[in-house]
Amino acid sequence: MTKIATAPIGRFDEALLKKLSSEHSAEQQLWLSGFLYGLATAGQPEAVLAPTQQAQVQAPKVQLLYGSQTGNSKKVAQKAAALIGEQGWDVTVTDLADYAAKNLKTAQIALFVVSTQGEGTPPTAAESFYEWLHSARAPKLPDLQFAVCSLGDSSYLKFCQTGKDFDARLEALGANRMAPRVDCDLEYEEAADQWAATVVSRLKTVAGAQPVAVLKEQLSTPAYVAGFNRKNPYHAPVLEKVRLNGRGSAKETYHIELGLEGSGLVYEPGDSLGILAQNSDRLVEQVLAAAKFSGTEQVEFDGKATNLASLLKTQKELSVLNRNVLEQYAEQSGHENLKAITTDHERLKKYLWGRNAGDLLREFPSTLTPQQLTDTLRNIAPRLYSIASSLAAHPDEVHLTVSALRYEFGRTTREGLASTFLADRIEVGDSAQVFIERNEYFKLPADDSADIIMVGPGTGVAPFRAFVEERNELRDSGSAKQGRNWLFFGNPNFTTDFLYQREWLQYLKTGALDRLDVAFSRDQPEKIYVQHRLLEKGRQLFERIENGAYCYVCGDKNRMAADVQQAFLQIIARESGKGEAFAAEYLSNLKKQRRYLEDVY
Ligand SMILES: Cc1cc2nc3c(=O)[nH]c(=O)nc-3n(C[C@H](O)[C@H](O)[C@H](O)COP(=O)(O)OP(=O)(O)OC[C@H]3O[C@@H](n4cnc5c(N)ncnc54)[C@H](O)[C@@H]3O)c2cc1C
Ligand SMILES: Cc1cc2nc3c(=O)[nH]c(=O)nc-3n(C[C@H](O)[C@H](O)[C@H](O)COP(=O)(O)O)c2cc1C
Repeated sequence: MTKIATAPIGRFDEALLKKLSSEHSAEQQLWLSGFLYGLATAGQPEAVLAPTQQAQVQAPKVQLLYGSQTGNSKKVAQKAAALIGEQGWDVTVTDLADYAAKNLKTAQIALFVVSTQGEGTPPTAAESFYEWLHSARAPKLPDLQFAVCSLGDSSYLKFCQTGKDFDARLEALGANRMAPRVDCDLEYEEAADQWAATVVSRLKTVAGAQPVAVLKEQLSTPAYVAGFNRKNPYHAPVLEKVRLNGRGSAKETYHIELGLEGSGLVYEPGDSLGILAQNSDRLVEQVLAAAKFSGTEQVEFDGKATNLASLLKTQKELSVLNRNVLEQYAEQSGHENLKAITTDHERLKKYLWGRNAGDLLREFPSTLTPQQLTDTLRNIAPRLYSIASSLAAHPDEVHLTVSALRYEFGRTTREGLASTFLADRIEVGDSAQVFIERNEYFKLPADDSADIIMVGPGTGVAPFRAFVEERNELRDSGSAKQGRNWLFFGNPNFTTDFLYQREWLQYLKTGALDRLDVAFSRDQPEKIYVQHRLLEKGRQLFERIENGAYCYVCGDKNRMAADVQQAFLQIIARESGKGEAFAAEYLSNLKKQRRYLEDVY
C-alpha cells in the first residue's frame, strides 16, 4: 500500500484508509471510490454513477409532487423525499404550482401528495395542474409509475377527494400504480409514513434498477416541532375574554386571550390555533337520554376504565356526525333506512347538516351496548381558529376572534362544540387545550416593503389583526421602507359589529393601516358587502396589485370567498382593459406566485 503523502486535504485519516483497503477486495475498493466520487459530485448537474452501477440500467429520477394549502402535504412530501433520498435515489420535490405539467409525459416515477380543500376541491396551488390533468390535453402516460398519498379530514363528505381524483385519473391515462393510494385523516403522520415506506420498498422493482447513491443536502427531514402538538396539547390559561359585539347585535363574537408562557410554543401571523374542546353537560345528558343510558355505565377507552358520561363529555364528538359514524351505526344497529341514507350522497349531506348524536339515537333507536356506542362515535376533533395576535406585540400570548355558533334545528337551539366551549364554558382562570397549526403559505410577504390588501369580513378579520400588529412592531423598530396595509372589513351593523374598531382607527392615525374600507350590510336598505367596496376601489386596487401587492382573503368559504374572487376578476378585467380571459389568467398567476391567498372556512 502506498503511503498517502499527497492527499488533497491535510488531515486525512490514514488508518481508516488502510483499513478500507486491506479489508476489501479490489472490486469493492473500486465501487467505494465510485461511491465517494458520487457523493462528492452530488448536486452537480450530472450525477456520476458508481462504477458497478455504470454497467447497469440508469436509475430513473423520482419526482415528488405536492399540492398543499397550509403546508401539511409539503411536510409529508419532504419527509418521504428524505427517506427515498436516504436510500440513494435521485429525488426531486416540487410544488404542483411550480411544476410544468407537460413534463409528466416523460417522467418515469411520480409520487403525489395532495390535500383536499373546499368541498372536495384541490388546494389553490394545485388547481391548474388538476385542471390540466383532467382535461383532454393530458397525454397518455403508459410509462409512468405513480403513487398517491392524499391528505384530508374524514368529517368532510368528500374525504380526500383530490387524492382520489388524481389516483383515478392517472390510472385512466394508462399510468401504473406502483403502490396503493393512502387516504390520511387529520392525524396524518403515521399513515403518510407507511405510504412512504411502501413506496420505497417498491422502488427497486418498478425502476428495474438500483438507486444511484446520490444524497442531496436539501432533502434533510424537516424538523417536526417537538413539545406540544395535536396529540399532546398545551393547557393554556385564559387571560382575557371580551364580547366584541354591542348589545342588540345578532352576532356573538368573542376576543379571547390565552397565555403561552413557559410552553415553548411560537407562531407567526397567519398560523391557526387548534382547540380541543369538551361537550356541554346538556348535550351529554341529551345523548344519554336518547340512548337510554344513565351515564354511570363503565366503558373502556384507551385501555382505561371510565364512566360513560365523563367519556362522552371529554372525548367523543357529539355535536356533529359524519359519514363513518353513520355507516358504522347503521351496520351495528341494522337500520336499513339509515343504510340507504349513507349510500346516497345528497340525502347524506342533508341528513348530516345540523344533526347531532342525540338526533341519530332518537331517530334510529339504539340496540348498542354502552361500549359499542362509544366505539362507534368519533373522538373529538380539534377546531382551528386563526390567530389574531402577533407574538412581537404580545409576547407569550395568543389571541382569537371567535364567533359562537348557535342555530335552530327543529324546535331546539343547537350549539357548536368548540365555539360555545370558548364562549360559554371557559372563563378567565380556566385553561384550554391548544396547539399551533402552522399555515406555511398564509403569511406576510417576505419583503416588508410590499403592499398588502386584506379582505376579512366577520371573524375573517382575525389574522389581519395579527398582520397589522406585526407590521406595526416592525415600524416601531425603525425597520426600512414599509409596505402599505389596506383592510376591507364587513359585518351586519356599524354600531354593534365593528370588530376592533378602536384599534383600526388608532392604526389609521399612526399610518400602520394605510386604508380601511368597511361594508356594513344591514345599515341601509340594500345589502353592501366587502366585494362591493372592492369594486368601488377597483382602480387603486389594480394599481397596487400591478405594483406587487399581495392579496389576502379570510372568512366564510361558502359565499364570501367566491364573491370576493369574482370582484377581483371584474376589477382586473376592467382596469386592465383586457377582458375576462386575461383576468382569469392574471388571477391564476397571482395564485401561483402566492400573491392571492385565501384562508377560508
Ligand atoms: C383554518 C381555519 C381558521 C378558522 N378561524 C376561525 C376564526 O378565526 N374564528 C371563528 O369563529 N371560526 C374560525 N374557524 C371555524 C372554526 O374552526 C369552527 O369550524 C367553528 O367555530 C364551528 O365549530 P364548532 O365546534 O363550534 O361547531 P361544530 O360542533 O363543529 O358544529 C358545526 C356543525 O353545525 C351545523 N351547523 C352549523 N350552522 C348551521 C346552521 N345554520 N343550520 C344548521 N346546522 C348548522 C353543521 O352540521 C356543522 O357541521 C376557522 C376554521 C378553519 C379551518
Ligand atoms: C376550508 C377547508 C376545507 C376542507 N375540505 C376538505 C374536504 O372537502 N375533504 C377532505 O378530505 N378534507 C378537507 N379539508 C381538510 C384538509 O385537507 C386537511 O386539513 C389537510 O391536512 C390539509 O393539508 P394541506 O396543509 O397540505 O393543505 C379541508 C380543510 C379546510 C381548512
